[in-house]
Amino acid sequence: MNSPSRGVSLSIREGLCIEQRPDPCGLVLFGASGDLAERKLFPALNHLSEKGLLPKGFFVVGVARSEMSEAVFRHRAGGFGAAHYLRGDYGDPATYAALAKLLSELDARHGTRGNAIFYLAVPPTLYAEVPRRLQEAGLLQGVRPGGWSRVVIEKPFGRDLDSARALDAELAGLLREDQLYRIDHYLGKETVQNILMFRFANSIFEPVWNRDHVDHVQISVLEEVGVEHRAGYYDGSGVVRDMFQNHMLQLLALVAMDPPSSFDPDRVRDEKVRVLRALKPLPPRELSKCAVLGQYEGYRKEAGVAPGSGTPTYGALRLELDNWRWRGVPFYLRTGKRLSRRGAEIAVRFKSVPHSLFRTLAPADLESNTLVFRIQPDEGIELTFEAKKPGPKLCLGALTMKFDYAEAFGERPPEAYHRLLLDCMLGDPTLFMRRDAVAESWSFLSPLLDPKALVAEAYAPGSAGPARAERLLEADGRRWRTS
Ligand code: BG6
Repeated sequence: MNSPSRGVSLSIREGLCIEQRPDPCGLVLFGASGDLAERKLFPALNHLSEKGLLPKGFFVVGVARSEMSEAVFRHRAGGFGAAHYLRGDYGDPATYAALAKLLSELDARHGTRGNAIFYLAVPPTLYAEVPRRLQEAGLLQGVRPGGWSRVVIEKPFGRDLDSARALDAELAGLLREDQLYRIDHYLGKETVQNILMFRFANSIFEPVWNRDHVDHVQISVLEEVGVEHRAGYYDGSGVVRDMFQNHMLQLLALVAMDPPSSFDPDRVRDEKVRVLRALKPLPPRELSKCAVLGQYEGYRKEAGVAPGSGTPTYGALRLELDNWRWRGVPFYLRTGKRLSRRGAEIAVRFKSVPHSLFRTLAPADLESNTLVFRIQPDEGIELTFEAKKPGPKLCLGALTMKFDYAEAFGERPPEAYHRLLLDCMLGDPTLFMRRDAVAESWSFLSPLLDPKALVAEAYAPGSAGPARAERLLEADGRRWRTS
């Protein structure tokens, strides 16, 4: 198939488009009256249904504390057909007894072979309690003999290394690791998945993907929005727990990992965790040399934020990896809320030329090549390089070669949850966080979790973030990318 777009011609080899149909199953959604279900999960399910990707036998049961009729629930579910609603308290065994009865009826009606996914879109304090109650009700071994059960847990997985370990230990007593799906929705984004394909399905990038050729890497996830209505959760977490422990370090792992021997879930996750293990520890006494935290002005006045809160809404880190591939190459990571623009990208900046043969120009005057993975918006990949402007004079300028996802494929990439829900039904954990990766991330970030370690510097809403974040790069003779 050739795409009709200008500039990009895409030829897809159909034999490589592997599309598997999941086993029939039921999806039980705890926290079904909440925001995540309405904004992300039901749109993803409806999308999967429209594309014909759901299994033939499939149903959804929403569980929540609110009183709601099945008709109202179906409406909130965006008209999703086979959706049922069960009101109940998450800590009450009666809820699980009623659920077991309902699941057994629906299993027989929809032919779902006893298979069930339990999705926990509930507050983290319930992450051990709900599986414990499910186990007491006999639901973690499948709805009936021969069926499988999987549990999906949203982030944050713990608040620090100790609490994550405690949660793991508790869950390990109830479930096998292969039944547990820890979500990091960034891993479901098309452009994030494409990092692996780009790096390992092409041979020209790998030879230059190392300290000999790369000057530095910038990973930015910038948001225009503030905490919105989530201050209750956010004020107790802050940017390090909310974004660095998961999304930011996962992006780092994907861009810095070694090639796995195969696309097998555990081979991919082994290589990612090796990156996290190679992170040079943050120096607790000199944190300000490699980390900056910020808080947008007006944050303390947001509904639900504690007066005088020191919770950071912005973070910038300068990291290094102690391994042969990356030794000495800085990785700069930044993310924050209420900034001047929204945009997430990974920019790999290559070294400048060793010698300029254009007499009036020094090597540093020539723009170094930069490869950018645009994660959102305007999803795609860009490569900048120097070229001669037409005309008799020798004029050089930086050009950008651009692959734009929407232009090439004629549509915007689907929501991350679409891929992740499907993978969970398929039993494919590649894009989910493994236990060791969660622990490594918490362990690395521990010095930053101490609220006294670093004071969050105020920054103006709509700005580029705290001034110290600029100085973090200036100290190395570099600058953050501006667009
Ligand atoms: C979530 C964080 O995991 O990711 C939010 O809790 C953040 O604070 C969000 O806004 C960003 O996700 P996206 O997909 O909108 O970039």
